Amino acid sequence: MKIFTTKETLAQYLLQTRAMGKTIGFVPTMGALHAGHLSLIEQAQQNNDEVVCSIFVNPSQFNDPKDLEKYPRTIEADIKMLEQVKCDVLFNPAVNEIYDDNEQWHLNTGELEYLLEGKFRPGHYQGVTQVVYKLFNIVKPDTAYFGQKDYQQFLIISKMAEQLNMPVKLVMCPIRREADGLAMSSRNIQLTAEDRVHALILSKTLNRVKDSFDRNKLAELKQEADRMISKEPGVELEYFEIADGDTLHQANEKTKNIIALVAARVGITRLIDNVLLVHGS
Ligand code: PAJ
Repeated sequence: MKIFTTKETLAQYLLQTRAMGKTIGFVPTMGALHAGHLSLIEQAQQNNDEVVCSIFVNPSQFNDPKDLEKYPRTIEADIKMLEQVKCDVLFNPAVNEIYDDNEQWHLNTGELEYLLEGKFRPGHYQGVTQVVYKLFNIVKPDTAYFGQKDYQQFLIISKMAEQLNMPVKLVMCPIRREADGLAMSSRNIQLTAEDRVHALILSKTLNRVKDSFDRNKLAELKQEADRMISKEPGVELEYFEIADGDTLHQANEKTKNIIALVAARVGITRLIDNVLLVHGS
């Protein structure tokens, strides 16, 4: 695997790749890689000649400096995993390679960035679009791969690419889970053994809502979900919403695409998860 830490050397290499007629698939990450990340790389490998993964813990998307500080960094293990799955290129820049000392701009993708996650993590999506915009400009991928795990992030990045006419195709890949249902996340390594057990309430509740889904009983389903999560010890619910999969507004009985999304604190760790309830009908 080729490892680049500067944007010039990476861009130069990819210029040659493109000149050979090769397509480029891109998987941006913040590292602490797990099987969910690797599934995006596999998907990219199936559809592209060259696959670039980036590992960059992006400071501008952390609204809480303590969260940034404690975000897991496991670069040695990450490189091993990427080599095992035969990823072609890793881009692993330092912060000052991506940002000048005092960058004060952001994109505005509209209402989506202020709902759900945006309410609980003000400025988070402005940081996400800022870095993904920069990364897309450096890598210039044909296709970029993101996880459904961060569903709202996918909607916002899609909006950004559309509004700015960025010549990149975006693909959303399914959520990878542990055998017991917990959605894989870099943050899971922060969970204590006890937290790990309590965290299961998120996927359990989403499954319950999926199994008993009835578009005429959305309010009851939400109430039941709120109740299940709120009574779990060690878990502090931030939101559970049954939303329109396109706008993220509250769904109603006529909504076409419906998704349930949850965010909660389990011990000191903030987790998110979701499940599609009605899709593409
Ligand atoms: P990170 O949290 O590292 O996630 C990188 C990609 O992996 C995202 O597209 C995310 O949705 C996907 N992913 C995470 N957990 C997954 C799982 N269990 N199954 C499938 N895919 C999963 O998301 C970010 O980084 C950052 O915001 C980033 C886009 C890199 C910008 O900094």
